[in-house]
Amino acid sequence: MARGRRNDIGIDYGAIERSKGEAVKAKIAVLAGDGVGREIVPEAVKVLKVIAEKYGHTFEFATADIGGQALDKFGVPLPNDTLTLAKQSDAVLLGAVGGPRWESLEYSLRPERALLGIREALGLYANLRPAKVYTTLVDASTLKREVIEGIDILVIRELTGGIYFGKPKGIEKLPNGQERGINTEVYSTEEVRRIAKVAFEAARKRRKKVTSVDKANVLESSELWRKVVIDVHGSYPDVELGHIYVDNAAMQLVRNPRQFDVLLCNNMFGDILSDEAAMLTGSIGMLPSASLGAKVGLFEPIHGSAPDIAGRNIANPIATIASAAMMLSYAFQLEKEAEAIEQAIVKTLDLGYRTKDIQGPGTQTVGTVEMGDAIVKNLNE
Ligand code: IPM
Ligand code: MG
Repeated sequence: MARGRRNDIGIDYGAIERSKGEAVKAKIAVLAGDGVGREIVPEAVKVLKVIAEKYGHTFEFATADIGGQALDKFGVPLPNDTLTLAKQSDAVLLGAVGGPRWESLEYSLRPERALLGIREALGLYANLRPAKVYTTLVDASTLKREVIEGIDILVIRELTGGIYFGKPKGIEKLPNGQERGINTEVYSTEEVRRIAKVAFEAARKRRKKVTSVDKANVLESSELWRKVVIDVHGSYPDVELGHIYVDNAAMQLVRNPRQFDVLLCNNMFGDILSDEAAMLTGSIGMLPSASLGAKVGLFEPIHGSAPDIAGRNIANPIATIASAAMMLSYAFQLEKEAEAIEQAIVKTLDLGYRTKDIQGPGTQTVGTVEMGDAIVKNLNE
């Protein structure tokens, strides 16, 4: 199907082109990965199948291995076949990778490399992580109701640059027998420019406020980051821009998170602050994400493989189901369908269904599959 541009974040990342009302035929690569990924992804697929049936779309699902699963089978965390499948699909749904079994392997073989590899290979430089608190869950957070009520933050994380990819990197032996570990935080003008643009475009559709996170009081890479962000802001006079040092941002997120609308972060700061933002919403099991940039978008929960709870039908599938909703919206421009999933999640929570991570007084604790079933049921009503 023809690929087009979705204007609301100002980047050409290959959303399927379709005229209003036209049915979508799409191929979705399903990479469940490791740990709870294998339990939560099927729940999201279940929801997508119901959407296809209900709204007359055709979704073709093709599964492939990634992470530890792939390592065990093929000796590499990101097999070529998996990458080829992803590239040939219209969107990728991913679970999580990693686990204690593979932790002692050298870095190039770790399951996590697969994530970095697929992000890089697909050119997914823009990672959108919305942190919104569901009204019914305000008491599930470890923070006070009055602090978190009504928060609606969009963390925009640069995903293919910075210290995650910078060179030189590695561990080298020193003549004195010691070792030295090296990573490099590096950003070019263009890398900052394109992610800043995404942040300003996104802010225009929201409360028109961007807070750029950096450490410009210490790091040259941050000094350039700030300079370029200010420069790009010149084209967005209608959007308010603020700058905040990352340490202060970490503090302000728990002190007064409502001050934030769009939080623009580099790769590392975005990784850290999005976990913190997730906890404001009650559980890291609630936060979806979209990774965009070139042709094919990737949609995954922000949490990891949670090996400690894997295989017990207790993981929360909501972050993954909400990621499927982001896929419908960003990759297929199916706004109504995405909204239907959102509403079904809200309704299911309103009815008192909770997985263990968000359980509370007066609610009913259910398993992964039962939560998926409840959301499907509420989708149909
Ligand atoms: C995330 C994760 C990954 C990251 C890990 C698993 C490589 O923490 O998506 O936030 O650091 O990007
Ligand atoms: Mg992370």
